[in-house]
Amino acid sequence: MDNNQTNMKKNLKTIDLVLLGLGAVVGTGIFVITGTAANEYAGPGLVFSFLIAGIVIIMIGLCYAELSSRLPLAGGPYAYMLAIAGKRIAWIAGWLTIWEYLLASASVASGWSGYVNGFLEGLGMPLPTIFQASFNAEAGTYVDLIAIIMTLLVTWLVSQETKKALRLNNMLFFLKFIIIALFILIGMFYINPENWTPVMPYGLSGVTSGATLVFFAFLGFDSISMSAEEVKNPQKSLPRGILIAIGISTLLYILVTLVLTGIVPYTNLGVKDPVAFALRYVDQGLIAAVISVGAIITLLTVLIAMLYGLARLLYAMSKGKLLPSYLSQLNQQTQTPQKATWAAGLIAAVFSGVIPLQSLAELTNLVTLVVMMMLAIGLIYLRKQKGEPTKDEFRVPWVPFIPIITVLITFYLILQLSYTTWVMFGFCMLLGIMIYLIHVKKIDNV
Ligand code: ALA
Repeated sequence: MDNNQTNMKKNLKTIDLVLLGLGAVVGTGIFVITGTAANEYAGPGLVFSFLIAGIVIIMIGLCYAELSSRLPLAGGPYAYMLAIAGKRIAWIAGWLTIWEYLLASASVASGWSGYVNGFLEGLGMPLPTIFQASFNAEAGTYVDLIAIIMTLLVTWLVSQETKKALRLNNMLFFLKFIIIALFILIGMFYINPENWTPVMPYGLSGVTSGATLVFFAFLGFDSISMSAEEVKNPQKSLPRGILIAIGISTLLYILVTLVLTGIVPYTNLGVKDPVAFALRYVDQGLIAAVISVGAIITLLTVLIAMLYGLARLLYAMSKGKLLPSYLSQLNQQTQTPQKATWAAGLIAAVFSGVIPLQSLAELTNLVTLVVMMMLAIGLIYLRKQKGEPTKDEFRVPWVPFIPIITVLITFYLILQLSYTTWVMFGFCMLLGIMIYLIHVKKIDNV
């Protein structure tokens, strides 16, 4: 069945990439995390947190766009660093990106299962408590069954022909967009400007901590760069796809946050489903129910795009001999890296079932911010090695100013994360170094 080493089909266009990006980006961050972020960190000032995170992401997106246009290779950060800085640095970038996608997929599945469990409870048919969430002896929960099942189902879907998975992704994306538009258009009539004061109840530091947390809401745009081998005109489509997806998501987040904090006092927003909650708060129960169901269905797009990106990354790293070779075998019929997809899905399923959402999301942010810093520095090196981009390639303005500012802001955001998250990050690096020494070094010596 497998062992077909031909190239993947090149049939994706800019519009597919924008939808893939938005499918991966708009999800748990806006539907779930906004509530806690406004309630505990930034208050109505959350809109500034989104603005800060959005500006950082746009700068990172610019660096990504030039890298993806000048080095149109599947595998994202791993492939770029391999071309710029050699195997060791590429390994670190690839290893951390694997974690970014694994943790993000697991976070999304876990946030999603929270919504579904709430929904089942509302119908009077809750799952037994032990299966409702990851291990928490006090709450009596042991394993998040719904998150595991959903991750496995999405893995099966993504292992099928690429176009099929992306077609479903595109359809769901439109549903997601309609739900968000519905929220903004109806919610704006219920805004009470008094709810916007005080603007920054937790001060400026609350706003920056909020920015570190909602950074999660922007993750996933880089899944676009994972698809390079399947894109018709990667030089133009990749940077366009990345920048358009980031621009649209930033705008949506700012509008949703303005409406959300305008309808409900931030002190009441510590809920799991803030967007639906806000409409219930102003007695729009029916629309709130529609939004809840829509959110449940559309959060799937994030999982599809994340697992899609992860499988392509494993495929690319395996092709580069940094992971075992079976991960780069393509299925003859579907021409997708089916083994890599299942490896990604199985591990993500286990994580989503056993690790709590908060820990997953924080660690996701840390590993991602480190990769982003590496890429910004990588771009400066690329300019040194290959000079200025040609007129067909994407050009970041004001290099090295923009990459340096990106590194400084990213570093500042990293410092806001908790000690526990840093310890987990240490473990993850240690594991990476061990695998490098055992697997990659062995290959180097052959
Ligand atoms: N950006 C993605 C989300 O918010 C990970 O769900």
